[in-house]
Amino acid sequence: MKYVDFRSDTVTQPTDSMRAAIAQAVVGDDVYDDDPTVKELEAYAAELTGKEAALFVPSGTFGNQLCVLTHTRRGDEVILGDNSHILMHEVGSSAVIAGVQLRSVPTRNGWMDPKVVERLIREDDIHYPDTGLICVENAHGCGAVVSLENMRKIYRIGQAHNVPIHMDGARLFNAAAVLGVSAAEVCQYADSITFCLSKGLCAPVGSIVVGTQAFIQRAKRNRKLMGGGMRQIGFLAAAGLVALKEMIPNLEEDHKKCKYLTEKLSRLDGLKIKHQRNDINMVFFEVENPKATEDMVIHGLLEQGIKINGTEENEWRFVTNYWTSYEDIDRLVDTFAALIL
Ligand SMILES: Cc1ncc(COP(=O)(O)O)c(C=O)c1O
Repeated sequence: MKYVDFRSDTVTQPTDSMRAAIAQAVVGDDVYDDDPTVKELEAYAAELTGKEAALFVPSGTFGNQLCVLTHTRRGDEVILGDNSHILMHEVGSSAVIAGVQLRSVPTRNGWMDPKVVERLIREDDIHYPDTGLICVENAHGCGAVVSLENMRKIYRIGQAHNVPIHMDGARLFNAAAVLGVSAAEVCQYADSITFCLSKGLCAPVGSIVVGTQAFIQRAKRNRKLMGGGMRQIGFLAAAGLVALKEMIPNLEEDHKKCKYLTEKLSRLDGLKIKHQRNDINMVFFEVENPKATEDMVIHGLLEQGIKINGTEENEWRFVTNYWTSYEDIDRLVDTFAALIL
């Protein structure tokens, strides 16, 4: 059976031109700095984001944790949003890898209040840990995009207190598309950024960390420490280059498809849709009086060739991607409604 998949944009398959680029890639041992395709990808990524240098890493989680490790010292405190990916979905690895403690800020639709962030920065006191890093996330995994103004305020606070800012930009280009600005304009308000090649941009594997030359040099050493020194990785970098050169404009269409999906869901009675954070390719909603259990709904859809995830904190999430068609969306909504309402 051919499945359509609304679980995430991480499920995207590579495009034909990525498959061709992978087959033809010129590769070398990247730990020896010998892979020309990786170098080309890193140079292109740095240019796109307006940063001095870039580093290819295996995943978004790896990139985020590498930046936490590289910015901080053991025992530091990291300020970040209470529902950020780094805090909630990275297996507690900041404690394991960097040995830091996380201090969360309440968020509204992924936004942190800059005043609260500033209040949490530690003073110099023998009892306190040092604040080593502030992490922001844009686009946020809750589906919302944070404004440049909010990012700018937090960045200025970081500068005033000598605390660097890391941005989890797994979906950086989705955020830039929604804000109507370049990726570099978003990245100007962070010292380091991780973004993913492998989500809506359809590359099979890989993320990029960008920052200053000095930061990337230190990150490269830490990448080796974390076991992320990869050899003939140019095969994946070749797909990454296609992702950055060809796929970014498609993200707006992913967002449009999600708006279409949201509109269709809005016409159903008994759904509470989180419209206020429906900025990118994700829609979140609750079902008020479901007539079937979650498992029944998931399996009922699977039998019809449709994959969805279960709820998290009672919220369903559907995600559109490059391979989603409008007909797939119609079929999802009709089948889901028949099973659950
Ligand atoms: C906001 C955000 N950050 C980081 C990641 C981690 O990316 P990866 O799955 O490549 O580790 C994800 C993954 O979905 C994400 O949504």
